Amino acid sequence: MSKLTQWLMGQQRPSQGDVFAALDIGSTKIACLIARADDQGQPRVIGIGHQLAEGMRTGLVADMEAVQQTVMAAVTTAEQMAGETIDHVIVNVAGPLLKSQTVGVELPLNGRDVTYSDVERIRAQGQNLLAEDAQGRVPEIVHAIPVHYALDGQKGIRDPLGMIGNALEAQLHLVSAAFGPVRTLVTAVARSHLEVERLVAAPYASGLACLVEDEMDLGCTVIDIGGGTTSMGIFFDGHMVFADGLPIGGAHITNDVARGLTTTLAHAERLKTLYGSAILGPTDDREIIDVPQVGEEEPEHANHVPKSHLIRIIQPRLDEIFEMARARLEKSGFTDVAGRRVVLTGGSSQLPGIRDVAQRVLDKQVRLGRPLRISRPYVAATRNGAHAFTGLAEATSGPAFSTTAGLLAIAMQPELAATQSGVESGGNGIMNRISQWARQNL
Ligand SMILES: Nc1ncnc2c1ncn2[C@@H]1O[C@H](COP(=O)(O)OP(=O)(O)OP(=O)(O)O)[C@@H](O)[C@H]1O
Ligand SMILES: [Mg+2]
Repeated sequence: MSKLTQWLMGQQRPSQGDVFAALDIGSTKIACLIARADDQGQPRVIGIGHQLAEGMRTGLVADMEAVQQTVMAAVTTAEQMAGETIDHVIVNVAGPLLKSQTVGVELPLNGRDVTYSDVERIRAQGQNLLAEDAQGRVPEIVHAIPVHYALDGQKGIRDPLGMIGNALEAQLHLVSAAFGPVRTLVTAVARSHLEVERLVAAPYASGLACLVEDEMDLGCTVIDIGGGTTSMGIFFDGHMVFADGLPIGGAHITNDVARGLTTTLAHAERLKTLYGSAILGPTDDREIIDVPQVGEEEPEHANHVPKSHLIRIIQPRLDEIFEMARARLEKSGFTDVAGRRVVLTGGSSQLPGIRDVAQRVLDKQVRLGRPLRISRPYVAATRNGAHAFTGLAEATSGPAFSTTAGLLAIAMQPELAATQSGVESGGNGIMNRISQWARQNL
């Protein structure tokens, strides 16, 4: 464990009884987890609430009122189970809203040692380098992650804390999001009487939840295929070095099935999860499934189609998702550090055979991921500071809850987020600006 991480963990270790909450606002479900630190400072999940998301589309708020109500319902369920009320939450920003860039920053030291404030100063300087958008608005920083340091020209420093020199240089990975959609998201949560304490990039949360330490160090890509989005994060040397996302996910597959089989979305969803697959099996031409037709309630009006027909509808869309993901990853410039390993997660990663398709299209070694540190009972905190959770029901330990679990890890250990939040930056950060805006406009 690095000195910096040790120091941070010492500073941030939760005390017994502290309560933390994560709110995963997805395109198809909204999930809230509440955890309490036990006598070892370890998180124990005490409240779970999840609802079908209303009003969200491809990671964007499409209907404020609906999102607000769904958030309220999910949070209330979790609160009732926990026997606690919450007023602060950590919330995700969907992959397609994110912009990822790496910038170089230099800080004069004049012969003194590097302190934690210098690391914060480096982050703050990096944020000032963000370019304005076409309307002259500066995008909002979600993360400012120092991925690499050099001291007086000596490169390859992972953790400069306590070192002495004249000039500290850093490569910062800045993850930002456009102000408008973020403001709408935070406002929807604020109207549910909750303050957004911190925003976290969805692929970052999923990576923290699913990747093992070696994967994060040696190079790995996490791909979270949800309902309306596909979020991607590249991890290397213990950091997330690239983040991106596509506005396409499992709901698009369901749509294709509904159109292709002329059935309702609800039936298409059921057929997809019951019989769907990414690859054809030897008996799929002979196996017949019943497809209720739109407007026909009677079972005798159902169509009878071979299962292979369903699979042939699913396949091209899935290929398209992986081909688009591959193009984005290749464009990132991080293909070398990303290595050969991919971890697939998100609700749509449950489609049988998806691993083979990913392997073929991406030409990588693929494994399926779920929230590791949540489904396993008690493991010590890792070098990255993520915690093991106990008390999580089986239903919420599947791949659809990777982002949720990662958010909770950050709620317990805020330094993992590598954010310059409003509170830390003396009142000018996004949280303060948005809260101010919300107070004036709600
Ligand atoms: N067994 C299954 N087989 C195939 N797909 C499934 C299965 N179970 C769930 N899904 C799909 O997973 C998707 C939901 O995944 P998830 O809960 O990760 O999305 P989300 O977090 O709400 O959305 P997003 O992250 O895109 O904003 C849905 O499209 C659903 O159809
Ligand atoms: Mg999701």
